[in-house]
Amino acid sequence: MELDQLKAQVHERPLPRHVGIIMDGNGRWALDRGLVRLEGHRRGSDSVREVTRAARRIGLEAITLYAFSAQNWQRPPSEVEGLMDLLRDYLVRERAEIMDNGIRLHAIGDLDRLPARVRDPLEAIRAESAGNSKMILTLALSYGGREEIIAMVKKVAEDRLAPEDVDAAAIEARLWTHGLPPLELVVRTSGEVRVSNFLLWQLAYAEIHLTETLWPDFGERDLLLALADFQRRERRFGHTSAQIRKA
Ligand code: FPP
Repeated sequence: MELDQLKAQVHERPLPRHVGIIMDGNGRWALDRGLVRLEGHRRGSDSVREVTRAARRIGLEAITLYAFSAQNWQRPPSEVEGLMDLLRDYLVRERAEIMDNGIRLHAIGDLDRLPARVRDPLEAIRAESAGNSKMILTLALSYGGREEIIAMVKKVAEDRLAPEDVDAAAIEARLWTHGLPPLELVVRTSGEVRVSNFLLWQLAYAEIHLTETLWPDFGERDLLLALADFQRRERRFGHTSAQIRKA
């Protein structure tokens, strides 16, 4: 299908409010071409730029990109350092684009573990873009879903919540994603079929779109195809199909 046709089709039906993306396959993309893994990550950061622009143009309310997991610290130090350099370069280069497009930059994860060269520009753009309202771009950095749940449980204990006051709202108020719209679609690239510690609580009723495309090859068209796939799903939230059709 032509790109314009696909765009028109996607605009006819409701969009997911919040899309999460597990950006996978950078290493394989590079190795397939005889390049070093970091070159795959560098091309992956170009995809981040293209997909963020496309998401903003399409009119998505929020996207969350899994850029560095809590477990990724275990990769070889040279790859970790290279990824941190890429994140810093991305933040420095994209600042103007983020501001010009009314995007609010947000980050979730154990941000204290990030080196100052990433944390400082991240915090600066976060503060500068706090009043923007066109789209929320959340970077999951040093992020793990289990780690987020542990942090939430610690807050519940610190706040001395009585057992009868522990409900979904009390939990959501203490998660790092507090204030973001509900996660409605998760995309995973590169043919892997795993959740990999991404937004574990928030995934409860999200639709999942899997694609073989490696992240450096993922662009606007792939995002539109994921949205069209979401729009074909019947979201039942535990109800029957007949109940949903009647509502
Ligand atoms: C997974 O591919 C990807 C990552 C661990 C890092 C994602 C980082 C980027 C896309 C670039 C920097 C991010 C931003 C926001 C500028 P992999 O290395 O696990 O690939 P493989 O499974 O093929 O080895």
